[in-house]
Amino acid sequence: MSGAITRPLLFVSQHHEANLCRFLSQRGWKLLFAATPHEVEAHPLEEQPIAGLLDLGGDIGDADLEALEPWFAQPNIAWIAMVGCRDRLTPTARRLLGLYFIDYLTAPFESATLAQGLGHAWGMVQLRHDSLAPNARVPGPAGMVGECEAMQALFRGIAKVARWDAPVLIGGESGTGKELAAQAIHRASPRAAQPFVALNCAAIPPALLQSELFGYERGAFTGALKRKPGRIELAQGGTLFLDEIGDMPLESQTSLLRFLETGCIERLGGTDSVAVDARIVSATHVDLEAAVAAGRFRQDLYHRLCVLRIRQPALRERGSDIVLLAEHVLGEIRRQAPARIKGFSNSAMRAMAVHPWPGNVRELINRIRHAAAMCEGGVIRPADLDLQPPAEAHPCTLAAVREAAECNAIREALQRHHERLIDVAAELGVSRVTLFRLMRDYKLQIRRQDLGLVVREG
Ligand SMILES: Nc1ncnc2c1ncn2[C@@H]1O[C@H](COP(=O)(O)OP(=O)(O)OP(=O)(O)O)[C@@H](O)[C@H]1O
Ligand SMILES: [Mg+2]
Repeated sequence: MSGAITRPLLFVSQHHEANLCRFLSQRGWKLLFAATPHEVEAHPLEEQPIAGLLDLGGDIGDADLEALEPWFAQPNIAWIAMVGCRDRLTPTARRLLGLYFIDYLTAPFESATLAQGLGHAWGMVQLRHDSLAPNARVPGPAGMVGECEAMQALFRGIAKVARWDAPVLIGGESGTGKELAAQAIHRASPRAAQPFVALNCAAIPPALLQSELFGYERGAFTGALKRKPGRIELAQGGTLFLDEIGDMPLESQTSLLRFLETGCIERLGGTDSVAVDARIVSATHVDLEAAVAAGRFRQDLYHRLCVLRIRQPALRERGSDIVLLAEHVLGEIRRQAPARIKGFSNSAMRAMAVHPWPGNVRELINRIRHAAAMCEGGVIRPADLDLQPPAEAHPCTLAAVREAAECNAIREALQRHHERLIDVAAELGVSRVTLFRLMRDYKLQIRRQDLGLVVREG
């Protein structure tokens, strides 16, 4: 390979063989030499290697190898080892090679074989890089807040179902944001410029639901003074959102099924068949399959409605999103209300984090609205939210407080940087060796997956 040298290669070896170095340089590798973990650390951050070559032929000891583990663990560096004799590898070397290396070469080997291996290493790093990208945080659709994995999965689900012009059934407990999701699907779909029409099947008396859905002709019944289009017709070209579909009476279920099968409706009191192109998005907080089994919901309609499905996670499944949502809601209130609200007290934050939230996001919003009106001195405390102050489970010795803060800071930085240890260490102002040791102490394990790392608390 000729031309500009573009691929930094970290070469950890105690004797850099001149011929091999020259050969690798000619193949487009920029060699970053290091003989000890200390020298590895000393490399400037901007010279981020994409591959690592470890020479186990010299007398590099187990202690040095362990000190290098954070480097081996980085997903954005692919490692290859040069081994003198496989049988003489120490248990430490075997463990590290098995865990982190993509290959090892036993001496003697051709330089070309090594160059080929390093080429693969470079390819692996590209794959890891690409595979981390889809997991990057996606912002929620307008008005939807959520960073936890359950919400991120929901946002990805919304984006996917929006592309297909098929009925969607949204499940989830009351107050979890089903209507918000339905609007998001519509806005992300090719029908976005057309109407979004919502109808809550539980809020309309059964006797009126037929005329609400299908409309009526003049004189269809006493009081029908002029023709009125139904919600289905009003959604022409757009999306019809049928909330609480589980409460739809059987008569309307039959008419809705006919519409889904024929794409046509008949207004009450009329004989004309009107073609309507509307996508149906429905939502339910009840178990529709149980309703089908109990004979309260038509099975054929159920299958028609749930071609695509998404599920809203309950608030208690959203971890620290609760705090994020609380801040979001308070931000909205601040914009509207003249009162000066400073924010939540620490104990209010903890109380919100442990409350079971049976009413989900709606309950959270209502409690914060109430608290914003009732709090004194602009600080919202647990009592303002009508919540119990949380038990003082947090650490009280200075050492324990420091450890808890340290552990939190590392966990959050790992999430922020998608487990890129080099960036986490740079942000936290510690060496990668220190970072790795702290992660071990706090049982913040990194687990190597096929292509990348995930962080989980041990
Ligand atoms: N992810 C979210 N981010 C911000 N606000 C949210 C989120 N999810 C829900 N909300 C808010 O919570 C409230 C309840 O949401 P929504 O009415 O969509 O819930 P629902 O599941 O349809 O409830 P129900 O089953 O009672 O009809 C709304 O004010 C909505 O704006
Ligand atoms: Mg709703």
